[in-house]
Amino acid sequence: MKTYIVGNWKMNFSVGESSLYLHKLLLKIRAARGLEVVVAPSLVSLQSLSLQTDRRKIKLAAQNFFYRDFGAYTGEVSVSQLRSLVDYAIVGHSERRYIFKETDKDVRNKVAAALRNGITPILCVGETESERTFGETADVIRDMVLGGLSEVSAEDVKKVILAYEPVWAISGSGRNVKPASPLDVKDVFSLIRETLKETYGKETAEETPLLFGGSVSPDNAGGYLSLSDCNGLLIGGASLIAPKFIDIIEEAKRLKSEK
Ligand code: PGA
Repeated sequence: MKTYIVGNWKMNFSVGESSLYLHKLLLKIRAARGLEVVVAPSLVSLQSLSLQTDRRKIKLAAQNFFYRDFGAYTGEVSVSQLRSLVDYAIVGHSERRYIFKETDKDVRNKVAAALRNGITPILCVGETESERTFGETADVIRDMVLGGLSEVSAEDVKKVILAYEPVWAISGSGRNVKPASPLDVKDVFSLIRETLKETYGKETAEETPLLFGGSVSPDNAGGYLSLSDCNGLLIGGASLIAPKFIDIIEEAKRLKSEK
């Protein structure tokens, strides 16, 4: 299975800055077999970056979209409109769920819309700090995984990338967060694989990529990537700083060659 290193730029960089940054990354990154580097710039930069990028080195993801393909939805962009620009789309990120009040229905419809349009959804799931404190992690994760996949046919489940992003470990919220330990992540990964196995069978459980995200840095990336269930990382803050993002890619490459 491939290793995915996905940079989520969130609401950062102007169109010009995005282009300069991508240029810098393209100069430094060499395509490697089995390693998929993806960046998710803001929507306004997608068109120009799609012309600029070398997809053998860096592919693009959308950070958000609406699940209808077209129609009277002022201000929205559909995944069918993004089709020629991106290969991936992030769905159900906690910032969308909690700041923009995206519902479970929005999330499952978006997952289905992305697949319908040939774009790989990266479905984010993760418990909040209070859910964790109250011992609800397993239930929350199971619900989010099965809920997010509920409009997907059983054969298509392995086309979805799942990203475990504990909300309490995401640094973008401005708080000083403590990164999750690889042991915490290992448990949740096992739970996700088990949930997929019970519902869709062993093959789907083994072939669905699982990423981790939340305060990933060059210092801790190796710890997560070394987990046997980990197929990559979703990176916010550290993906905005070229040397950090490149270090993480190099680490992924190194571990991949060892696996
Ligand atoms: P962070 O963000 O790496 O800045 O914690 C991760 C994410 O929100 O995907």
